[in-house]
Amino acid sequence: MKIFTSLASFFLVLAAGTFAFAFPQKEFNNGEIWKDDNGIHINAHGGGILFERGMYYWFGEHKIGGTAGNAAEVGVHCYSSKDLYNWKDEGIALKVSDDPQSPIAKGCILERPKVIFCKRTQRYVMWFHLELKGRGYGAAHSGVAVAKKITGPYKFLHSGRINPGCWPQNFPKERQNLENAPAPVRLGGSWFPENMDPAAFMFRDFKGGQMARDMTLFVDDDGKAYHIYASEENGTLQIAELDSTFTKHSGKYWRAFEGRFMEAPAICKRKGKYYMIMSGCTGWAPNAARSAVADEITGPWRELKNPCLGDGAHSTFGAQSTFILPIHGKPDKFIFMADMWRPNDAIDGRYLWLPMKFNGDQIELRNTKTWKY
Ligand code: GAL
Repeated sequence: MKIFTSLASFFLVLAAGTFAFAFPQKEFNNGEIWKDDNGIHINAHGGGILFERGMYYWFGEHKIGGTAGNAAEVGVHCYSSKDLYNWKDEGIALKVSDDPQSPIAKGCILERPKVIFCKRTQRYVMWFHLELKGRGYGAAHSGVAVAKKITGPYKFLHSGRINPGCWPQNFPKERQNLENAPAPVRLGGSWFPENMDPAAFMFRDFKGGQMARDMTLFVDDDGKAYHIYASEENGTLQIAELDSTFTKHSGKYWRAFEGRFMEAPAICKRKGKYYMIMSGCTGWAPNAARSAVADEITGPWRELKNPCLGDGAHSTFGAQSTFILPIHGKPDKFIFMADMWRPNDAIDGRYLWLPMKFNGDQIELRNTKTWKY
């Protein structure tokens, strides 16, 4: 009897194993539930991916159900995958804090986490958009956390505004004077009044540090890292160089797309040029994507057309950019990663990943429900 039971359980385990491996995902299925190895919808919104030694690591916002899920109740979730279709749950890489005094206190807003590896310090460095608990989107801070192991645990280091007391590198020298600061006028919405100098918010925040909301990170071939974020009341994007530890800014930054209200920046480098995809500024509601190209990451950036083509192009097919992933071992293949937000039930947000095509410099994205790379 005992032999029989153990034999039976042996076959059961075998069958379960076979089942798990017999039906792996073999393609992307946009807008559907993407199950992890536990059969649970992947919870990594506004995310980014880091490739290391044959493995992709996906970091994103862990959301809970309902509208409460739009705040950070848990932290940053990490998943790993060899093929980008099948993801293993690696747990919470950065936990929000139970200490109400912590800048990353439970209930803060912690969005668009991205992780890069610093060769000099041999540390994984995570940056994210941080809004202090109970202050809506007013703080416009960035947070940093580090880990020795890629999957974490990440230790929160510090957070705040960016580059206080520093002028943008591409701002005319003769204008670098607070005495002639233009008056900022904020009407709300995605525009500045026509007669307002679009640099007015950069001047306003000069002493206290620049605002940063939607963001991404990029490590260039020369090993320098950059933090790219929606700044100046979301009106203008800034590209800030990180120091050699990747945990602080170097003091050098550049402004791009002045007064264009771009959010959700995603970037890649292809054949020596830099490409960005961004969104307009309409909160959780989708809008038409933007795209741009530059010879240097610091600009000047040349704006291109809406990269989306066909039905749904006006709304990025119901999604918003979050990251551009170079596929390892396949030069010139990139995946455009976007979120289909569900702000009324945040945990139910879906993913839209599309192949990126290039027509000359113009990026082209076509809505493809299922596909393989
Ligand atoms: C979006 C932004 C999201 C989140 C949201 C809040 O525009 O990309 O990350 O901040 O607004 O309304």
